[in-house]
This record gives sequence, C-alpha cells and structure tokens, in this order.
Amino acid sequence: MPEGLRYTTLGRRGPRVSVVGLGFWQAGGRMWRSRGADFTGVVAAALEEGVNFFDTAEVYGWGRSEEALGEALKRAGAGDGVVVASKVAGFRVTRGLVLRGVEGVNRRLGRTVDLIQLHWPPPAWAPLCAPVRALEEAVLKGLAHHYGLSNFPEGLLERALECARRVEPVSNQVQYSLAYRAPENRLKPAMEERGLALIAWSPLARGALAGASKPGDPAQWDRVFKAAAKDRELQEALADAAGKLGATKAQVALAWLISKGAIPIPGTRKPWRAREYARAADINLPGDTLARLDEASEKYKTRWGTSYNPLRFMRYTPCTLQYIILKALGGI
Ligand SMILES: NC(=O)c1ccc[n+]([C@@H]2O[C@H](COP(=O)([O-])OP(=O)(O)OC[C@H]3O[C@@H](n4cnc5c(N)ncnc54)[C@H](OP(=O)(O)O)[C@@H]3O)[C@@H](O)[C@H]2O)c1
Repeated sequence: MPEGLRYTTLGRRGPRVSVVGLGFWQAGGRMWRSRGADFTGVVAAALEEGVNFFDTAEVYGWGRSEEALGEALKRAGAGDGVVVASKVAGFRVTRGLVLRGVEGVNRRLGRTVDLIQLHWPPPAWAPLCAPVRALEEAVLKGLAHHYGLSNFPEGLLERALECARRVEPVSNQVQYSLAYRAPENRLKPAMEERGLALIAWSPLARGALAGASKPGDPAQWDRVFKAAAKDRELQEALADAAGKLGATKAQVALAWLISKGAIPIPGTRKPWRAREYARAADINLPGDTLARLDEASEKYKTRWGTSYNPLRFMRYTPCTLQYIILKALGGI
C-alpha cells in the first residue's frame, strides 16, 4: 500500500481501515442513475491510493450496489487487506430475518462481509435485542467478521449495547459533516466512551461541501445540502483553507472529519474523485484553520436538532410497509 494514507482500528477490536473509506450507494442506488455501471475504475483508483474500506447496503439499488462492489473488487484484483462493510435493513427485526439478510449480503458480494451493520433501528414497538443478538450470532457463525450499528441515536445506542452479550459492536454509522454536527452534542461522546468507531455518512453533504451549488439527484430533497451550498461563511472558510493548503474543498471537509476522529465514507461515480478523497488523509489542518472551520459550522450543532435524528421516521413505520415501499422503489 502507498505511503501516506493513514489507517485506524475500527472500534476496540475491529479491522484496520484507511482513515478515508468509500461509499457505494452511488453504485446501483436508484437515485444516482448508475444502474449497471462498472465501478472497477473507482475501486481500482481507491485501492491504488491505499483506501481499503468500502461501504454498501442491501437496500442500495435492492442489492445492485453490493453486486457492483463485489464485481469491481474482483476485477480490480483486491487482496486480503480489503474491508467490506454492508448493512441489513432495519425492517429485519427477527433472528431469522437478520441471518437470512446477512447470507444474502454475502451471496451478492461474493465474499464474507467484514462488517455487517443494522442500517437503521427497528420500529419503536419491535424488540431491540432480537436484531442485535442476531448480528452477534452472525459473527459467531462466521457469516460476518464484525458487526456494527447505523443511525442509532444516543439513548437507543445505550440500550442496544446492553443487548449485546457475547460480541461487542465496533461502530455506529451516522450522518456527520461540517453541515451536520448534531452527533457532537451527545452521541459522539457516548460512542467514544464505549470505544465505538464513528463512520460518517454524507461527509460532503452530498457534494455541497465540495463546492457543488446545483444538487445532484438525491440532494434535491436534502435540506442539509441546500443549507451548506448557500452558506457563504462556511464556503469561504472551506475555500480559504483549500487555497492555503493546496487542496480542494472536499479534501478540507474530509480532513476536518478525520481531525474529529471520524472515518468518512464519501461516495462517487468517478475514479478521479476517489483519488481526490483518498488524498484528504494526507492533510493535517493547522490549528487556526480548524478553529475557523469549527466556528463557521458551529450553527450546525443545533440547526437540525440537538439529538441525532435523521431516520427517526423509520421508528414509526411498520416493517411490512418499509419492505413494500423499498421493494416497490427498487431500493434506494
Ligand atoms: N447509513 C446510512 O443511513 C447512509 C445514508 C446515506 C449514505 N450512506 C453512505 O455514505 C456514503 C456517502 O454519502 P452520500 O453519498 O450521501 O454523500 P457524500 O459522500 O457527502 O456526497 C457524495 C456526492 O458528492 C458529489 N460530489 C463530490 N464532489 C463534488 C464536486 N466537487 N462537485 C459536485 N459534486 C460533488 C459526488 O458526485 P459524483 O458521484 O458525481 O462524484 C457524490 O455523488 C454513501 O455512498 C453510502 O455508502 C449511508
């Protein structure tokens, strides 16, 4: 692997992963209009830069993203050091549903998943411990090497950790960026105390923190994209930092997350952008730059609520309805 890219351990006992990963929602996700596209170039570019951490989910294009990632890894000749994360949907609320879900993930990836995550918490009335213990069982049975959670707010996370009896989760994947800082209020400190890695989704606010002013496909409905794209104070802080460091805005936004101890997983359909993202790991933000970025983004600690809440509506949507809608849409 090339010099320069830094690696970190996922949680207390997880695998070694590059401090910048790569998200694969873009590969097969309905909203990205990339169905059937070949992602070998994206994976090959990331691997060449030393990225070894790739994230996908069963609902991304209803399995297409996992298939595209598995195929691209094979074609790019990915070796043993690669860490593949996927997610089973939060509508899998029983032991059997979760275990069958993980088997499906492995079939589509063409390998044993390294990190299996529960994509969102179960509905409020469903037992929380059933899916958590099923994930433990998946690890004990060798269906996955590690497990983690995703979109768990602080209170629920504590309860989920109490469910775990034999194997600890290593991570919680949550929305976190310069334009969405709610996790810093309570969730991130709680995760640090419990030794859980924070995997940051939408680390670029869907391109807005990279300087995109016109939203791409899924960003059209994204309030965080809209706020960040027209936030002059934040855009100027990003541009000044990028100019000073000879970097891009996207690299500065990713370096800021790395400085906070998070592992960003930006997504892209373009090989050159995968290289750009990876090189963010080389950037050490000077103290004054960090302070300016912190200050310009302070408002986003509370703008979207003080608690972590992006997929809260799923807590009140029955599993069957979640399944029917997602299936009818062909995934997200
Ligand atoms: N756990 C969850 O609930 C959850 C939710 C959402 C996402 N995720 C994961 O997180 C990953 C990343 O999140 P995300 O895709 O929501 O957002 P993101 O990484 O913040 O943004 C990625 C998008 O920004 C665009 N972009 C980057 N630089 C740009 C520039 N200079 N100008 C214009 N556009 C630019 C890219 O477009 P191009 O594709 O054209 O390069 C890309 O599609 C996903 O792939 C997925 O794996 C997880």
